[in-house]
Amino acid sequence: MAFRIAVLASGRGSNLQAIIDAIADGRLVAELAGVFSDKPSAFALERARGIGVPATAVRPRDFASRAEGDAHLFNLVDAVAPDLIVCAGYMRLLGAREVSARHGRIINIHPSLLPAFKGLRTHQQALDAGASVHGASVHYVTPELDGGPVIAQARVAVEPGDDAERLAQRVLGREHPLLLATLQWLVSGRIRLAGAANGSRVELDGQPLSAPLQLGAGNVLAEPGQPATPAPPHPDFS
Ligand code: GRF
Repeated sequence: MAFRIAVLASGRGSNLQAIIDAIADGRLVAELAGVFSDKPSAFALERARGIGVPATAVRPRDFASRAEGDAHLFNLVDAVAPDLIVCAGYMRLLGAREVSARHGRIINIHPSLLPAFKGLRTHQQALDAGASVHGASVHYVTPELDGGPVIAQARVAVEPGDDAERLAQRVLGREHPLLLATLQWLVSGRIRLAGAANGSRVELDGQPLSAPLQLGAGNVLAEPGQPATPAPPHPDFS
């Protein structure tokens, strides 16, 4: 049975589109089971409807409490039976109860090299801090905002003259291949979250990661210290 992905998105959904395109051309062997948003006007919902994928908005203000809104959202998410829930530009904190009930099955893409620059306006945060390297992270979602175990990162050099918008554009260009490369290994079962909530760690092929995987120039993930692309064959001097 196909690996089923549900996506939560609040806005334009360019990361969602990267998933849609990769599924369409076979780079990602998975099925997009449903897309959910807190904003009825989110373009991400249009992208899903355009290809016949169920797309639903759950507006927080329609519910008496945050817990009720979260419970409703996740009832709908559970109904599409996802193997993995991907937050791709979903701009609301998920309730701790719902997150804990789905330990190891929710990931998020965040535009910074976590643990640096959590929260909003990350590109401006990086510029204000004088960072020379910025980037994006894919991490498991835990109840702590942007605080779950990091799976993989893409690094982007800060260039002279960068403003937040220009930097955001370059980071976004790396987010899409980062998300796809990470999803490919999640779908194939190479990456998983091991351990209970308060001691969980990312494993690759059954071994704990000592640091996040890094997206190399060839859009392939590598462990830190490993070449990002296969090394050229050793010259034969015989
Ligand atoms: C991305 O930068 C993502 O990392 C952040 O919000 C943005 C969403 O972009 N959390 P898009 O909606 O996928 O185009």
